[in-house]
Amino acid sequence: MYYPEDVIEEVRNSSDIVEVIGEYVQLKKKGNSYFGLCPFHNEKTGSFSVSSDKQMFYCFGCGKGGSVFTFLMEHENYTYPEAIEHLAERAGIVLPKQEMTIEQKQEQDYRAALREMNRTAANYFYKLLKHEHGKRGYDYLRNRGLTDDTIIKFGLGYSDIYKDDLYHYLKKKGYTDYQLRESGLVEINDKGAYDKFWNRVMFPIVDMNGKVIGFGGRVMGDGEPKYLNSKETVLFEKKKNLYGLYQARRSKRSGFILCEGYMDVISMHQAGFDNAVASLGTAYTEEQARLIKRYRDHVYLAYDNDGAGIKAALRAIDICRNVGLSARVISMKPYKDPDEFIKNLGKEEYEKRIDKSVSAVMFELQVLSDKYNLSDPEGKTQFINEAAVKLSLIADKLERETYVEAAAREYSINERALKDKVNKTGAANMVRKQYKEIEESDKKLHQREKEKEKDGGLLQEKLLLTWIANEPSCREQVFKWVSPEDFSEGLTRKIAVLFDKQIKDKGDINPAEIVDSFKDVSVHSEVSAILNAEVYFDGEQENDAGIRNQMKSKAITETVLRVKEAGIDRRMKEIMDMSCSKEEQNTMFLKLMDEQALLKKLYITFGNG
Ligand code: GTP
Ligand code: MN
Repeated sequence: MYYPEDVIEEVRNSSDIVEVIGEYVQLKKKGNSYFGLCPFHNEKTGSFSVSSDKQMFYCFGCGKGGSVFTFLMEHENYTYPEAIEHLAERAGIVLPKQEMTIEQKQEQDYRAALREMNRTAANYFYKLLKHEHGKRGYDYLRNRGLTDDTIIKFGLGYSDIYKDDLYHYLKKKGYTDYQLRESGLVEINDKGAYDKFWNRVMFPIVDMNGKVIGFGGRVMGDGEPKYLNSKETVLFEKKKNLYGLYQARRSKRSGFILCEGYMDVISMHQAGFDNAVASLGTAYTEEQARLIKRYRDHVYLAYDNDGAGIKAALRAIDICRNVGLSARVISMKPYKDPDEFIKNLGKEEYEKRIDKSVSAVMFELQVLSDKYNLSDPEGKTQFINEAAVKLSLIADKLERETYVEAAAREYSINERALKDKVNKTGAANMVRKQYKEIEESDKKLHQREKEKEKDGGLLQEKLLLTWIANEPSCREQVFKWVSPEDFSEGLTRKIAVLFDKQIKDKGDINPAEIVDSFKDVSVHSEVSAILNAEVYFDGEQENDAGIRNQMKSKAITETVLRVKEAGIDRRMKEIMDMSCSKEEQNTMFLKLMDEQALLKKLYITFGNG
């Protein structure tokens, strides 16, 4: 272990999960839990719950769940130790010197070295830019209109014309060839070591903590490739970062302006649009959209004014829609990109373009209309048909009608006729969707039946674990009847073992500790589902507490019975497979048969019932 278990426990106890998650998600109290909009999937109603009693979170929508540590690992991309350190610092707990396994130490050193190499390189490039050796780079940036302040704000730099000066510089600082190659700053082969970047102006890319994790480098002039980017490392995941986000998230302006290039972001910031961001030399991704959604609910797309740019904008609109981010499109006509626009027309004009930005739907219609000759009746009809499909997909009725009205006006279409068309198309959509759903649900049903046979036993085990988690008063009785060996090998047995141990040691169970004891974060959600589920039973609506308890007793007794019977069954089979003497087998059989006979007396009680 990285940190001793009791330290982790102390950190967990001093970090109320409601408070911690409350710093990222707006939570409202409802009954015994807190609810909010799930940060892990797109939703309009809050199915994300945080339980103060269990110190766990669980989303009834997407099924993600876990402890306060899981949350930080999933939401902030922390490693387990990083999550512990973050919470310890927050709670003012001084952590003991880390006890690390060799692998953990290596992993930590590996990351630390990557960070340091990137930071050192950024410094090196920056110093060069200010040095006479870097005059070419400095002049290039100044000629593109950047001020010294901007150069500092974005930490811009210059990579030298020598093919291995950075290599030697870093080597002197003590990094090994292996580390240097891993950083992506240097390429090493049997012929020698080469700096990846040379004779380029350098754009350091920083993470949400302002730490350099990679670079983009641009040739000064017309070389190929125009931009070169660091390769991905454990620190640098292109699809999960945005250029300029570190600066833009503190902006007081509304929304973010999503650009295509580094230079666009920088020019925009310099002109006062300090809410500009860009993806990192790759296409805009859903992860990035979700990242944006943490800070803003809308974006302005400022993509290049050419075929590729329009295509990219249409894609970006879909991605924004998928995560529930509203998008508008800014026109830079007649200029190619925001950088050129600002340089030619200035910031006041750009401000006007923001005001005149069009909604995603109107932009899509605009692009569509460019495909047809609207003065030709046939072309216009085709356009109307396609436009109707687009409009019919707007789910909200009021919104759809508003757009129908706007589209009719914009393209001189009879409003009633367009409305009819949209409604008809909408009806067709519906039929198609229903048909597809029936087909899919048939398939699912079949699959579910098959799984049910296999998982029936497992479901009962999970249900029993949920009962144990939810009903402290029945725990002791339950564990008199079932032992962890009655659970099938795997997740459920492991949870049963932990329950058993916690009850024996502390007289109570600690759900969050159970989640954290699974080192594989990918099972945290499944464990959370078990620990957070609500159990429904016949008679729970009963007003009379006595009757209700009786019904509850009946429900849980049945569950215990099924798990126990399946457990005995399984152990019988196991005994038959054992390679031991007949006598030994018989003794074991008899013992199990005794257990089986005793089950007649099994009854779990609640209250006085
Ligand atoms: P400037 O010419 O410097 O104004 O750049 P730009 O932003 O106008 O360039 P462009 O629209 O061509 O590129 C937009 C973004 O795409 C850049 O910021 C890079 O992130 C990326 N990009 C452009 N060219 C290349 C390339 O050759 N290779 C890679 N990997 N990325 C590129
Ligand atoms: Mn440009």
